[in-house]
Amino acid sequence: MPNSESEAGAETAAQLRGRRVLLVIAGGIAAYKCLDLIRRLRENGAHVRCILTRAGAEFVTPLSVETLARQAVYTDTLALTEDSEIAHIRLGQEADIVVVAPATADIMAKMAHGIADDLATSTLIAADKPTLLAPAMNTRMWRHPATERNRARLEADGVSFVGPNDGPLAEGESGPGRMAEVPEIVAAIVDVLGARAGPLAGLRVLVTSGPTYEPIDPVRFLGNRSSGKQGHAIAAACAEAGADVLLVSGPTQQPAPAGVETVRVETAEEMLAACERGLPVDIAICAAAVSDWRAAAPQDQKIKKPRRGEGQDRGAPTLDLAENPDILATLSARGPKRPRLVIGFAAETEDVEANAAAKLAAKGCDWILANRVAEGAVFGDDENVIHLLTRPGEGAAPAVERWPRMSKAEVAVRLVQCIAEVLSSDAETA
Ligand SMILES: Cc1cc2nc3c(=O)[nH]c(=O)nc-3n(C[C@H](O)[C@H](O)[C@H](O)COP(=O)(O)O)c2cc1C
Repeated sequence: MPNSESEAGAETAAQLRGRRVLLVIAGGIAAYKCLDLIRRLRENGAHVRCILTRAGAEFVTPLSVETLARQAVYTDTLALTEDSEIAHIRLGQEADIVVVAPATADIMAKMAHGIADDLATSTLIAADKPTLLAPAMNTRMWRHPATERNRARLEADGVSFVGPNDGPLAEGESGPGRMAEVPEIVAAIVDVLGARAGPLAGLRVLVTSGPTYEPIDPVRFLGNRSSGKQGHAIAAACAEAGADVLLVSGPTQQPAPAGVETVRVETAEEMLAACERGLPVDIAICAAAVSDWRAAAPQDQKIKKPRRGEGQDRGAPTLDLAENPDILATLSARGPKRPRLVIGFAAETEDVEANAAAKLAAKGCDWILANRVAEGAVFGDDENVIHLLTRPGEGAAPAVERWPRMSKAEVAVRLVQCIAEVLSSDAETA
């Protein structure tokens, strides 16, 4: 139990750091308090996305909500997210908790009856995440048998409630119906999310995943066959082990893992910038297959094939390449922001261990997970054969551990176990 206010605050921050809250703001007078709720959640390190119901937008403006949340606010059933997935499915999938505050009599009634006639209610019915309601309404609305039935129905469905409190109401009356205060809602969110536990609890982990796409012109790019399966599995396993995980992902078909803050990028330069913005971290795991090169001068217009008889003698265009930043080497460089453990991947087509040992030395990272990618193996597969190279000490030859063939999810779990072991032995010797 925390025994001071500052300890309680630190505990709240530890529980909320990196957690993704989807806040539905419905149309009640208490909607203004949500601006403070967003601020408090963000101060504690949570990521807040907001949906405003049509009535909610009569009480607080999308601009205020967006400014405080630092995220686009969702107001429209037809809204699509950046990569064109239907928002009402994606928003729930990408949240750790859905909070409705204020929860109006209307939205409670719709939720209790499975009505999905706008973005907020469609998201609520599609979300399989813990849901917390902070009702706010006039006492007579709250005491109405219909509202009481709806509340009981929702509780039976597993929905949690905070408040309402007894006190002065906007209409000048007093009684039950006043929305719980912001600190109470924050505490309820922490309760519903549950304490983080696991061998990586309290650690911040950066994971990169997937390929990078380097534009040649608006329709063509340099890329590779990385599917992101291994990197995403590692991010999921770290989150499962209690870590606060930032996943920086190139273009992949993989869904964002639950409980993981996911930043999507395209190019190596964008990936490095997103990683650097995420520092400091305790552990960095670079599983992305970052393109070594990019087109030196990407064209604004599509490069045209010359028409018959028109400059055909010019032949095919040549592509000048520029070297991309080395993300693994950058993160491994000594300095105050260097993570305690930097782990890279090596995709090799031959001499796996010798090449991986050379990469370990050249990049300055602590471990390399090497795998063979000849004849299309590994990229896109569900399984992997890993050679783990670690550095026993300055100047010593790397130690090699050969893992049997296993699924990428199993590789991720085993990697987490190795990390947990090395960190706990570091802690013992410290
Ligand atoms: C000025 C005003 C204040 C309102 N305050 C509340 C409120 O505190 N709680 C509530 O349940 N409904 C309140 N309502 C009614 C809701 O705005 C109305 O039921 C609306 O349809 C709710 O839509 P929503 O649930 O999609 O946000 C209020 C209406 C007005 C005009």
